[in-house]
Amino acid sequence: MNKNAPLGLFDSGVGGLTVVREVFQRLPREKVIYFADTGRIPYGPLPQEDIQRYTVQIVSFLQERGAKLVIIACNTATAAGLEAAQEAVDIPVIGVIEPGAQLALETTKSKRIGVIATEATIKSGAYERTIKAMDPEAVVFGQACYEFTPLIEAGKKDSEEIAEYAREYLATFEGKDIDALVYGCTHYPLLEELVQGIVGDGVAPVNPAVKTVQIAEEMLAEADLLADRSEDPEHEYFVSGDPDAFASLGSVILERPLPPVGKVEMK
Ligand code: DGL
Repeated sequence: MNKNAPLGLFDSGVGGLTVVREVFQRLPREKVIYFADTGRIPYGPLPQEDIQRYTVQIVSFLQERGAKLVIIACNTATAAGLEAAQEAVDIPVIGVIEPGAQLALETTKSKRIGVIATEATIKSGAYERTIKAMDPEAVVFGQACYEFTPLIEAGKKDSEEIAEYAREYLATFEGKDIDALVYGCTHYPLLEELVQGIVGDGVAPVNPAVKTVQIAEEMLAEADLLADRSEDPEHEYFVSGDPDAFASLGSVILERPLPPVGKVEMK
């Protein structure tokens, strides 16, 4: 495998760009190929079998495009499809849930942890299972935030509408004495200011992307596969939906213009 082969990342939409941000910061020499399944977003309300099939399909696409490692930059796809994807391809594939669980336990003192995520991730019980397998004393409270992803994708992350939903969803943590909150959907770090303003200073935000990219770096270093190019990498972006909508929202999140976004049919 070539050291300068790209890192593949994917999500249902722009959320996974919060993981790409971490890659840019921590691994600036790495080239990224990003796939956003915007033709089939949101994943949150879908059955696990569909999400698993999409995950395998997209991870295979990223392998075909030459990825040396894939990060499933989507909690919903990690919960439903990580194992199937690992079996389907012969490059390493990692998800965001185990790193997120690890970081949550490193962050909490009280071992009372909140998780906000999509409906499918909460229903899967993946965070609770993973956190408790690492520390049986931990207590986990989950809340599905149904409307967050569609509103973020519609460019309404700063709207009063989303703030109202946030107050409604986060009320579930009142009186639970949590001291750490896992942003268990990669779209949600885009709402950090809003969410932290509601839950307050006593609750530390846990962004799984931070730990995920650290683990990816360790895996690449161990396999002697860290990129060593001298020029800036030329990243590539693909979507299954509208390339222009993705490019305009994506350039705001990444604070840089995006190159032309490719369109790939997914069925
Ligand atoms: N960003 C995704 C996640 O981390 C999924 C959002 C969705 O498609 O519902 O779970």
